[in-house]
Amino acid sequence: MRAAGSSFGLGPRTGGCRLRADKRGAANYGPRMKTVRDFIKQSVAGDGDRRLEAPGFQGNGEAICEVVSELLGGKTGDVVEVGSGSGQHAALLASRLPGLSFWPSDYSEAQIGSINAWRRHAQSPNLMPATKLDVLWKPWRIAGRPFDDRSLAAVLCINLIHIAAWEVALAVLQGSAPLLRPDGFLMFYGPFRRDDVQTAPSIAAYDDTLRSHNPAWGVPDLDELTAAARDAGLERYAVFDMPANNLMVAYRPAGGAGAA
Ligand SMILES: C[S@@+](CC[C@H](N)C(=O)[O-])C[C@H]1O[C@@H](n2cnc3c(N)ncnc32)[C@H](O)[C@@H]1O
Repeated sequence: MRAAGSSFGLGPRTGGCRLRADKRGAANYGPRMKTVRDFIKQSVAGDGDRRLEAPGFQGNGEAICEVVSELLGGKTGDVVEVGSGSGQHAALLASRLPGLSFWPSDYSEAQIGSINAWRRHAQSPNLMPATKLDVLWKPWRIAGRPFDDRSLAAVLCINLIHIAAWEVALAVLQGSAPLLRPDGFLMFYGPFRRDDVQTAPSIAAYDDTLRSHNPAWGVPDLDELTAAARDAGLERYAVFDMPANNLMVAYRPAGGAGAA
């Protein structure tokens, strides 16, 4: 679900001015462009601890949990979440899917603090400490070590790639693909444009808002993402309709257990 007023994004990792050229035609953006810290609208959840609340979580948490349970229910193994934000999704998922170990991560220290505060609050033994991970880093190191190839049950990416440059989506695909087990999934949750379905007015309006805040951001095209996934060795497995016209898109390694 689109977290109304809860947008995050590509932070000023190099002092607020980054030069980039991406598929959306964003030549560059400078210090006046919105960054994650400008855009974030989380509220404080805990009693003096560092738990933050993402406004969208109340509307999308259960729906996301349902789809993840459908794809991963009954399985064991490791699940990495990138761009975990507040950490609420990881905490909920860990409580519902005790056979899986959840490894939340984010590139923001504030989010790491919140994830770990939710972890202390949740007390789920299968919810691991947060790792600082920028998906652009190679290789992805979680808890100080790279995961082995073909070892992960899933990678989750919730509400990240529309509030980031296209290279971030590519990095998620390329970072995940070698790490997934043959029956593993890469799942993206968020808004998408589709050729086969008219884009909902709310999604089109959100796209305009994103681009006006930062021209490197924008609602991704599902077919473009799927083509990039194919280049990374992943095939589309399923697309789920989600709250507020969002989608959950699941990819799995090409030649895995069947695509749709
Ligand atoms: C819109 S928030 C979504 C947070 C959470 N997944 C949710 O749905 O509530 C996007 C998150 O991705 C993080 N992020 C943005 N760019 C990133 C990157 N390159 N690597 C890792 N995390 C990133 C931000 O710090 C932020 O916490």
